[in-house]
Formats: sequence, structure tokens, C-alpha cells
Amino acid sequence: EIEKVVGREILDSRGNPTVEAEVHLMDGTVARAAAPSGASTGEFEALELRDGDEKRYGGKGVLQAVGHINDEINDTIKGMDASDIYAIDRAMMQADGTEDKSHFGANAILAVSIACCRAAARAQAIPLYRFLGGTYGRRMPVPMMNIINGGVHAPTSGLDVQEFMIMPVGADSFREGLRWCAEVFHALASLLREKGMTTSVGDEGGFAPELSSDEEAIETIMEAVERAGYEMGTHFKIVLDAASSEWKCTADCFHEDTVVSSSGQVYYHLPKTGVDYTTDQLIAHWKELVEKYPIISIEDPLDEDDWEGWQKLTLEIGDKVQLVGDDLFVTNTNRLQKGIAQGCGNAILIKLNQIGSVSETLDAIRLAHEAGYRAIASHRSGETEDTTIADLAVAMNTGQIKTGAPSRSERVAKYNRLLRIEEELHGQI
Ligand code: PGA
Ligand code: ZN
Repeated sequence: EIEKVVGREILDSRGNPTVEAEVHLMDGTVARAAAPSGASTGEFEALELRDGDEKRYGGKGVLQAVGHINDEINDTIKGMDASDIYAIDRAMMQADGTEDKSHFGANAILAVSIACCRAAARAQAIPLYRFLGGTYGRRMPVPMMNIINGGVHAPTSGLDVQEFMIMPVGADSFREGLRWCAEVFHALASLLREKGMTTSVGDEGGFAPELSSDEEAIETIMEAVERAGYEMGTHFKIVLDAASSEWKCTADCFHEDTVVSSSGQVYYHLPKTGVDYTTDQLIAHWKELVEKYPIISIEDPLDEDDWEGWQKLTLEIGDKVQLVGDDLFVTNTNRLQKGIAQGCGNAILIKLNQIGSVSETLDAIRLAHEAGYRAIASHRSGETEDTTIADLAVAMNTGQIKTGAPSRSERVAKYNRLLRIEEELHGQI
């Protein structure tokens, strides 16, 4: 039974404020959780409440969200059973009263929702993944490791694609795959140094070198894989997150002479390389890239509003490559339902704070699996030491997790949590 819930403003990995919630149970159990924060946020995400007071943290303070936890949310869930997460989330949403959680803030509601799960798990003396998934959860995820950062996560790199990832598909345990990835990460560092490029890292811990094309980034990664002693295609596959909703433009930022056919299409303008595409041209670009390189998955290859384009792309290459909706689906069952009905993509990226509660996140994963879509547990570019997504991936058997490079402790914390879970699952501790 919940005695009280306390909110506080803490810092995330970018030095911006975020919300932490602390749940106290009557039996003395205390548990905490923190909300992450995105940079390339989807237009249809639940609302992250920020104070807008320019005198504090450039307007990014979260004292209002924290205040809602300490007042209304505390009043709402006090006395409730922390283990009934569906009832708790429902009560918070009712009290919030908005569709996008804009009254309390999704950052406030999510932090409390996770903290309740943690408190309940602790009170029952079971790990979080068992609380979330019961005995169903037994599959270790394969990491999609983001080793080159571009887009808005690395403003100084010349790359428009936001994330270049490697996936150790040939490894037969999580621990082994993690080691392979870390070795490639170091090989990539030495390679970049030899090329005279910087090895400073972006928001998700991957390098942010002065490379200027997708092809060059992919080829550099392939070289690093070989240098580390692995075979591309057998041991590793390439994964991209284009985050192309950042490329959407209105007709006036598009160079007229490159327009082939404009009817019903979204215009894309790649801000760094200055290349323009129509939907059809961008689809052709992805087809070409998938034929040329061992790419196993592409996230947000098209804009969050380009449903027609998604349908077309899925028909054309959906049997060869995983097409992941991040900004397209925003962990929202309504948008996922629409995508399933229209055959848009074949996988969903799962970010708890896009929808803003644990129960709705679990529902989104279940809906995806029922429809034969894959689900990938994911971090945000702004993270904390909170490791919930590691437990979520195992609990729901997502089989895949996206949580950055083996660099920056807010990323590594999730990998280290998974190492411990793997030992538990194998009965080693
Ligand atoms: P974000 O990026 O957390 O900045 O939104 C992550 C992603 O696009 O997958
Ligand atoms: Zn994404």
C-alpha cells in the first residue's frame, strides 16, 4: 500500500533537469525512478512538462511537474496497491484529465508509474523484469549499439542519419555480444584517430566524426568490424535510425528543380548535406542502401505523417529489412493500430516516456506482438542512471534493445543491468 509519493528535480545526461519520483510503501519499502527525455521527439508524443521559466535552466526546469507529484498525484494514489499498476496509471490519467498528459506532464506520470512498479517488485522481493512480465520474460535482447551519432545528437558531424548502429546477431549470449560491440567500438576509435578525425562522442555515446555521407559512415563501421576480427554479415549487421521526421520540410525549403512528382508526397530536406528528396526518391535511396550493405533494420526511414510512403516502402522492402516506427508510432496503441491496418512498417520502437505510463507501454508491446510486429525497447538521447528498459526488454521478450554506445554511464548502466539479469536467468547467482 502506498504511503506517499515524492517528486524531485534531478539532472539527466545532457545536464537538463528531469523528474524523479520516489514511492514509499506502508511496509517501509522505498523505490525511485526517473523520466528520460528526447531531442528528436515525435510530434505525437505525450507532453513533457517544462516550466518555461527562462531564469532557471533556460526554461527547462520541471518544478511544475514535480509539484504535481507532490500534490495531486500523491493525493490520487495514496493508499492504493502499488502492484496494481493498471489501476494506478488509470487513476493518474483520470486525475490528469487530458489526452496527452499535459496537465501533470508525462514526465511526472511516468516517473511515478515506474517507481510504483519498482516498489511493488521490491516489496515482493522479485526482480523488476519478473514483476513486469511474470515468468513469461526469459529472452535476453540483442543490442542495437549506436556507435556513430549524427543528426541532432551530434550537431558538428556532417551526417544527417541520426544513428549508425551495429547488432551482434551472431553472438550466442548477451555477454558475448556486448564484448564484440565494445571491441568494435574501440577499433572504430583507432580507425577514426588514424584518419585524423575526432573521437569525441555524441549524446548517445557514439562517436561524432566529421564524416559527410551515410555511405562513408557505414563503410567506416564495416572496416572497424573487420579490424576487431569479426565478419560483417555473419557476426554483425548494420542498423540505421534515420529519424527522418527531422527532415520534413515545406515546399519552400525544397529546391524546385529536384522535384519529380509532388502530388501527395512529403518533402524531405537533409539539413547537413543539403540533399532534397520526395517520398519516392527517399524510398529509392533506402532500397539502394539495403541492396548495397548488410542493413538489417531501418528506423524512421520516412516522416511521422507519411503513412502512404510507409505503406509503399514496407511493400517494397519490408520482407528484407526490419522497418521500425519510432516517431511514427510513439509507443501509442492507436497509432500502432493504424499502422498495422495499413501495413506500415513491421516493428515498433518502445519508449516509455512517449506514451507516459508503464501499463500503456506494456499494452503497446502486446499489440505489436499479436500483430506479428517486433518491438524494440529503447532509451532516449537524454537519460539517467535508471535501468528500467533493461528489465522491460527481458520481461516482454522484445529480443532487441537500443541503448547507445558502450560509453557514457547512463548507457552502460542498462548493459550492466542486462549482464546481471542474464546471470540470474541462467541460474548462476
Ligand atoms: P531521441 O532519439 O531520444 O532524441 O528522440 C532517439 C531516437 O530517435 O530513437
Ligand atoms: Zn528514433
